[in-house]
Amino acid sequence: MPVPTRLLFVCLGNICRSPAAEGVMRRLVADAGLSKIIEVDSAGTAGWHKGNLADPRMRQAASRRGITLDHRARQVRATDFEAFDLILVMDEENRRDLRDFASHQQIADQVRLLTDYQSQHDATHVPDPYYGGEEDFEQVLDLLEDTCAGLLETLRRPADPAPTST
Ligand code: 4NP
Repeated sequence: MPVPTRLLFVCLGNICRSPAAEGVMRRLVADAGLSKIIEVDSAGTAGWHKGNLADPRMRQAASRRGITLDHRARQVRATDFEAFDLILVMDEENRRDLRDFASHQQIADQVRLLTDYQSQHDATHVPDPYYGGEEDFEQVLDLLEDTCAGLLETLRRPADPAPTST
């Protein structure tokens, strides 16, 4: 059983990739019966879409998979690095942009690229579908389902026991 874990998914606008990641992860966590111990949220490095629901194209694509996205966009804040244990970014630009909100040490300790957890894909990042078509939103969701499943598996894996001195 994993220890209580607070996860924050981060992209640029917080209306396409990260709210979708939040919705996909929330569903996986609920299906695993872990909603009480794994907390999930999302935010954007930019605040342009503050207060908005996710892009309608992403909400429709997620809804076709039985996932309702009701997150309202917000910008990352410095206190997120205290409020969350692990911050999952979609690409290296997101990681760079987090420097406005956190120290190098916090970024090194707490920020991970979401694609590090993929097993069925070979992606370098989660691509931004904002200027794309319907198939781009579907591909992002396919990748998010793979990466979030891998992330949950990692969280459920018992931590390595402390090394014993012999
Ligand atoms: P997201 O996509 O980072 O996945 O939410 C974007 C949404 C909006 C914009 C860029 C990317 N924008 O330029 O407004």
